[in-house]
Amino acid sequence: MSILVLALNPSIDAEWRVDDVLWEEKNDVHSERRWAGGKGINVARWLKYLGAPAQLLLPLGGRTGGELASYLRGEKIPARILRLREATRVNVIVTTNAGRQMRFNAPGPKLSRAELAKLFATVEPHLRALARPAQKTGLGSPAAAPAVPSVLLVLSGSLPRGVPLTAYARLIRVAHRYGVRTVLDCDGPAFAAAVPARPFLVKPNEHELAQWWRQPLRSEAELVRAARALAEQTGGWVMVSRGAKRSLLLNPAENFQSFAPPPRAKPRNTVGAGDAMLAAVAQQIQRGTPPPEWLRGGLATGTAATKLRPGQLPGGD
Ligand SMILES: Nc1ncnc2c1ncn2[C@@H]1O[C@H](COP(=O)(O)OP(=O)(O)OP(=O)(O)O)[C@@H](O)[C@H]1O
Ligand SMILES: [Mg+2]
Repeated sequence: MSILVLALNPSIDAEWRVDDVLWEEKNDVHSERRWAGGKGINVARWLKYLGAPAQLLLPLGGRTGGELASYLRGEKIPARILRLREATRVNVIVTTNAGRQMRFNAPGPKLSRAELAKLFATVEPHLRALARPAQKTGLGSPAAAPAVPSVLLVLSGSLPRGVPLTAYARLIRVAHRYGVRTVLDCDGPAFAAAVPARPFLVKPNEHELAQWWRQPLRSEAELVRAARALAEQTGGWVMVSRGAKRSLLLNPAENFQSFAPPPRAKPRNTVGAGDAMLAAVAQQIQRGTPPPEWLRGGLATGTAATKLRPGQLPGGD
């Protein structure tokens, strides 16, 4: 396995289908679908689909944690589980006949100090083991595009309660120590706190980049300016995804800047498209392909995901 995906705040996602939502009335649920959800799990699912050698590391607790683990086994997603005292969360999506949706996200379990310590103690030897074969080939420079396969740590999604905002920064620094490249996709304060640790690649969407930049992005010129400022701080690659609009990949240190449009599509669901995109980008980096391929692969897979229901892969029902 040369990609480790950390899913710190996973969930069971439950979709209830109803005719309509009526306040103060009984709402009959016609069907319920449950699956393993959350950004890190989405990334691991797509990596498996793409044939990339990836392993998931995630904290799970309670009966819902057991249920989620059984879904991962069913999908044959290799996972290392860290047992938690508190139960894994269930996020509910209510979908009406007209296709309108309400989403209810639970806060999820709070990690104790001991559980947090165990998490760090588990990641470090993983990265060491992951890095060992690659170090022989002298990999690990943060900026250069490799011509040979590399090892990656994917950090995707929000931090659970009990985990400090600096957790991703700390993990990125551990990864640096072993020459493991990090791919980061999160937002808000957790993102801002991780940037100074110099992740290899970050993938904000346009909104998340504007949030980090603290200014609206009114044009592509402003988008490039913000992305370059971000890359100055990470010293690495910045990919900005923009839904149906053309995405940007740049790295000033490598003198690289490119925009590319996604394939045209009539989306059925866009939630999680960014996770599919990230999986394809991670796969391309791991394989050692040149950066234009990261963009092309990411866009193709991101758009493929918009044609599917949440949690599903091409060819599923
Ligand atoms: N309307 C669309 N038409 C075509 N492709 C799309 C559309 N929306 C999303 N995509 C594809 O998905 C990729 C990621 O989309 P987006 O920028 O919305 O990610 P995101 O906001 O990070 O999503 P999430 O975090 O919910 O997974 C895009 O680069 C593109 O390839
Ligand atoms: Mg996203």
